[in-house]
Amino acid sequence: SERTLVLVKPDGVRRGVVGDVISRLERKGLAVVAMELRTLSRETAEDHYAEHRERPFFGELVDFITGGPLVALVAEGPRAIEAFRALAGATDPVKAAPGTIRGDHALEIGENVVHGSDSPESAAREIKLFFPELG
Ligand code: GTP
Ligand code: MG
Repeated sequence: SERTLVLVKPDGVRRGVVGDVISRLERKGLAVVAMELRTLSRETAEDHYAEHRERPFFGELVDFITGGPLVALVAEGPRAIEAFRALAGATDPVKAAPGTIRGDHALEIGENVVHGSDSPESAAREIKLFFPELG
């Protein structure tokens, strides 16, 4: 079994789709093993998205992700990382297939409702950043 870090980003919280995201991942067979509503500091946001530091949209990304409360959770199950990325759909919500979270709930790349870790290394790093108590 594997763990992945999922964020329902501030746009998702604002639009009231937290329950839908949790419902979809539970229906798929993943289990929520930690969860918290919180507003990120700029420092945590910059840390979380460190791989994008040099990208032209980095400032916008940090403004957006710190702009309101988000829900951070750890989901667990077989191939949880890949499984949640499949539920989320493509990064660009216009290209995301209908039936996926982004395909059903979003229109703009900068406001795409959810985050999911993209590799075992990212998952370990991100889970430690958000839930250090999980070890
Ligand atoms: P995350 O799960 O949030 O990490 O998304 P991802 O893994 O599908 O995409 P990636 O890590 O490549 O990009 C991180 C986030 O940056 C995306 O979710 C987008 O919200 C944002 N992003 C990516 N490309 C662009 C862009 O061209 N413009 C803007 N404004 N945001 C972008
Ligand atoms: Mg990513």
